[in-house]
Amino acid sequence: VGALFSAHSYAADSAIDNILTSGELKVCFEAGYIPFEMKTKDGRFIGFDIDLAKHMARSMDVKFVPVNTAWDGIIPALQTGKCDIIIGGMAITPQRNLKVMFADTYIEIGQTVLIKPDLQGKVTSYRDLNDEKYTLSSQIGTTGAQAAKKYFPKATLNLFETSADAVLQVANGKADGFVYDLPYNALYASQHKGKVVHLDQSFTYEPLGWAIRQNDPNFLNFLNNYLVQIKKDGSYDRIYDKWFKS
Ligand code: ARG
Repeated sequence: VGALFSAHSYAADSAIDNILTSGELKVCFEAGYIPFEMKTKDGRFIGFDIDLAKHMARSMDVKFVPVNTAWDGIIPALQTGKCDIIIGGMAITPQRNLKVMFADTYIEIGQTVLIKPDLQGKVTSYRDLNDEKYTLSSQIGTTGAQAAKKYFPKATLNLFETSADAVLQVANGKADGFVYDLPYNALYASQHKGKVVHLDQSFTYEPLGWAIRQNDPNFLNFLNNYLVQIKKDGSYDRIYDKWFKS
């Protein structure tokens, strides 16, 4: 009788309980979003988010367990308990925020476009791309896809499962422009000189945040305080500089 009526059985389950009981922080992300999460040739996961996730797990004294998940199903994966948190460059949007809780913004980004090199001079601003004669690409279920529909309704939009397939359309000349997050586009352009041109003026504002299941104020409180700590003690800057300054 004592155990049945313990205070604990009345509290809603926090992800913190699963994490501490299992000794594992299970983190959902979709590898393929440079430089946030990538898979190396020998199958390891690396990147800005991965280093943050490892640091977070260490601060909880548990093991970091990567859960590489298709972007399209990443919120369902969180909701069904395949992971405890999404650390995956996810923009805090109102639609997503109706399904999950977000910790405070950990980085701010915006949308930009990579265009075909032969459009250089003809397309000088992202605004020029709102034209029937242009074909654009982006990744399914991303804010890039959303922005493409909103800002370029006259253009044809082709969506792909992965960002790699979507951006390849431009590098191969099958699409005129690829709409995606600025950090990804900047890095891709520097790695594929001559294949794409980066229009680096961003035309949206997107705060990225870590997502957790709803009704979990304990975990949310942990995350927001953890974020303040790493931003003030230099850990965040060290990890940021490693991936964004080179
Ligand atoms: N920031 C964009 C969004 O929230 C794209 C994120 C894509 N992330 C990824 N791992 N593919 O929709």
